[in-house]
Amino acid sequence: MDFVNLLEYETAAKEKLSASALSQSVYDYYAGGAADEITLKDNRRSYDRIQLKPRVLVDVSRRSLATSVLDQQIALPVLIAPMAFQALAHSDGELATARAANAAGTIMIASTLATTAMEDIAKVFDNDLAKESGRGMWFQLYAYKDRELTRGLVERAVAAGSSALVLTVDAPVQGKRDRDMRNNFQLPAHVQIKNLLGKGGSATFPDGETGSGLAAYINNEFDSSFTWKDIEWLCSLTELPVVIKGVMCAEDALLAKEHGVAAVVVSNHGGRQLDTAPATIDVLTEIVDAADDKMEVYIDGGIRRGTDVLKALAYGAKAVLLGRPVLWGLAVDGERGVKNVLDILRNELDITMGLCGCTSIEGINSSVLASRFMV
Ligand code: GLV
Repeated sequence: MDFVNLLEYETAAKEKLSASALSQSVYDYYAGGAADEITLKDNRRSYDRIQLKPRVLVDVSRRSLATSVLDQQIALPVLIAPMAFQALAHSDGELATARAANAAGTIMIASTLATTAMEDIAKVFDNDLAKESGRGMWFQLYAYKDRELTRGLVERAVAAGSSALVLTVDAPVQGKRDRDMRNNFQLPAHVQIKNLLGKGGSATFPDGETGSGLAAYINNEFDSSFTWKDIEWLCSLTELPVVIKGVMCAEDALLAKEHGVAAVVVSNHGGRQLDTAPATIDVLTEIVDAADDKMEVYIDGGIRRGTDVLKALAYGAKAVLLGRPVLWGLAVDGERGVKNVLDILRNELDITMGLCGCTSIEGINSSVLASRFMV
């Protein structure tokens, strides 16, 4: 057996990507966080601090990891987080990730900044099993200054068969990512933002910039004046459920609920935006309370073990989004690597459920936490 946990995938990917200065800058882009990377580290550490409560003499001989998000059936409570530029990790890019997600019976959230067009990613989910489960690709949207471009992306996502729209709201400006500045992070010429290609927007980073090309792109292109009233405009464009990604406090969860949002993702963008923001698991409870069963709540950031998934569900998340480990699997072994990453996490969650006396995802609640962590 080559890899037994997700952490080993990171080590192997790091080694592989250290082969050249270019691939080292890709590793830094994926692995790095904002500024001193305090939030990046805290996302992980906070999970380690939480203790689970083993339960004994419970019949756990039959366990199911199946659940649903927005009425779409998934085989495990783990979705693939939106991540940009996957062709930098592997030449098959987003298609490999999509195939692995589909094979694992889950959903991939395709990034606006993908290096494969959303229509091509969506086709991977165009099969009977996915259709019967009501699940497909979800499209992650950034709001561009050019409203018509933004509207066009939404219309294309609907036409392509996206089954939800995920608006990332935590990047009105890009976080200060020292590693990318130091590396002058740029896209090689063959890697383009395919959703934008030929659509009037910019499919590459601006020319002639030093420092992070992505920061220059975001600061040129994304609409930093987008507010809650624009969420109403966005919801008016589509019947698709709208999910907001990047909510980190009860106040914003309450506003999301008022504005008819179907779900929120508790996310600090993997520690890549505001450094010294709290770890996501540490604010999950206040957001679940604010959502008050009117919106689903998902979480990302720092999830590396099946025990982490169980903890997130115990605090009220309906599912988790898995980010960097997917890129590590992709970098190491393409589709097979991503599939193995999902299989390892599924197996770890299954074992954890058995040891905590849980037989179904719906049955998981804060009673699986050691007493002092219960809410
Ligand atoms: C893009 O969304 C990034 O976080 O780099």
